[in-house]
Amino acid sequence: MYSSTKLVACALIVAQLVGSIQCGYYDNTDKWVLSDKTKAFPENAVLGGYDSYGYENFVGRVVYSSSVLPARVRAETGYATYNTESVGNQSTSYELLVSNETVSYDWVRSFDGFLERNAVSVGTSATNERVYVCRGRTDGGIFIGTLYLAQRACFIRYENLPMRQLSKYEVLVRKHTPLTWAPFEAQIN
Ligand SMILES: *[C@@H]1O[C@H](CO)[C@@H](O)[C@H](O)[C@H]1NC(C)=O
Ligand SMILES: *[C@@H]1O[C@H](CO)[C@@H](O)[C@H](O)[C@H]1NC(C)=O
Repeated sequence: MYSSTKLVACALIVAQLVGSIQCGYYDNTDKWVLSDKTKAFPENAVLGGYDSYGYENFVGRVVYSSSVLPARVRAETGYATYNTESVGNQSTSYELLVSNETVSYDWVRSFDGFLERNAVSVGTSATNERVYVCRGRTDGGIFIGTLYLAQRACFIRYENLPMRQLSKYEVLVRKHTPLTWAPFEAQIN
């Protein structure tokens, strides 16, 4: 009896150790293209907003500190910025989300960490939480940010601006378009 209690505690400790060495994993549901400023900008990259200077920002993702995070990428200069719930940073290498004939992307209004249907996940955080792509209007722009459902907020930290934590924001969702014209489905709708 005594030893079996010990055994359970041991298993718990092992589980915690495994948890602490957890790395961020990419989500492979969507198509992401590895890029940097030396590469041609993909035509079908997904627009996410614009920064305080008026530059268009496209949806990207980066790995930072064992976490996969959404990034905002300027097409012109390949300048990519991203943030966790506490720090903001920049990267010269990133992946860009691309659409195709059958899969496109849309922004839907959301709040409080609600899990929207078909929300696009970039991957997981260091604590194995799924990380989603959000955006919000702040500081003279529309900024792509990091959505942690558990924290119920869209986090945006751009350059030297203060961390913004929005409980109302938009979430990036995936839309499937049938490749062939379907008159029967069109009639139902
Ligand atoms: C479009 O991209 C999705 C993944 O995001 C893929 O599953 C699908 O096969 C692609 N469709 C075409 C027509 O390439
Ligand atoms: C920002 O990212 C660079 C690598 O791209 C890294 O060397 C630096 O430590 C990061 N800064 C912070 C505050 O984590």
